[in-house]
Amino acid sequence: MLNELEKIKKEFLDSVEAIKDSKALEELRIKFLGRKSALTSVLRSLGTLVQEERVLVGQKANTLRKEIEERLEQIKNSLHQKDTSEVPMDYTLPGFPLSLGKEHPITKTIQEIIDIFSPLGFQVATGPEIETDYYNFEALNFPSDHPARDEQDSLQIGGLSAEGILTKAKGKYLLRTQTSPVQIRVMEKTKPPIRIIAPGACYRRDNPDASHSPMFHQVEGLAVDTDIHFTDLKGVLSEFVHQMFGKEVKMRFVPSFFPFTEPSAEVAISCIICGGKGCPTCGKSGWLEVLGAGMVHPNVFKYVNYDPREYTGFAFGMGVERIAMLKYGVHDIRLFYQNNLQFLKQF
Ligand code: DAH
Repeated sequence: MLNELEKIKKEFLDSVEAIKDSKALEELRIKFLGRKSALTSVLRSLGTLVQEERVLVGQKANTLRKEIEERLEQIKNSLHQKDTSEVPMDYTLPGFPLSLGKEHPITKTIQEIIDIFSPLGFQVATGPEIETDYYNFEALNFPSDHPARDEQDSLQIGGLSAEGILTKAKGKYLLRTQTSPVQIRVMEKTKPPIRIIAPGACYRRDNPDASHSPMFHQVEGLAVDTDIHFTDLKGVLSEFVHQMFGKEVKMRFVPSFFPFTEPSAEVAISCIICGGKGCPTCGKSGWLEVLGAGMVHPNVFKYVNYDPREYTGFAFGMGVERIAMLKYGVHDIRLFYQNNLQFLKQF
């Protein structure tokens, strides 16, 4: 029996060297450890042996069995390593697609607005979001005690001028409440003719709800020249409305008030949801207000040293979120700022 075990061991050691793959390994396992293997029959026949011989052979046979198992396990592991390290790389396979980012719907809408006004001769201008009281209100003909300021409460930042000096006229910084101050900044630096649009962020002390956000965006427009009329304003805005919302959309001007324009108007379009019949979106009126506009007030021209007898101009301002909400059917302004990819990926 002991000889038999020696023989099995030798045979195993001889054949184990030749193993190249897992199929050969499995064949070897069956041959040396399987039910019909020589080792198994030695173990089975232990009962036929006398006590002393049984103990000796039993020990040797079990040790051999363990050795064989361990060796086969080692080979299995090294074959596995080889398998994974030697998988040939296929460089012709397509790569993993990278998901590309895209423009935020507000950025996209601003770009659409710019693309409509650019061919009409309007250049993009910008101004600071931290503004002085002077540019945000005073020079736009909002005197310091004017009630029209109440609608545009904002975060006030100190009472210093740009030079760091406390002044009455140009004092007080605030987060700008509108893009209209860009009108003043452009006119201060440029002589007419002027045609600009000014996109950017604005801030107001509004509590967030479905249609309010303390931070939002506007696009301002301004045209000044020697011969600008209300009809020019209508022509430009009707071009904008038709390109933005479709040719079939109607537009109407409703008299309104802004300190820096006279006359002033709220511009509304026929409801793009119900076609003007009346629905919840338009409050059953059939009309949706989209922007404010008017002819530049002569007082504003005085602030920038333009002669109101020589120049006339029109101005308009629109809320970008409002335009985007109407155009893309978004019912809650807060969705624009929540960074929810499911929402943002739709644009
Ligand atoms: N700045 C105004 C606002 O935020 C909007 C506006 C109305 C801008 C009329 C204009 C304008 O330029 O002419 O309420």
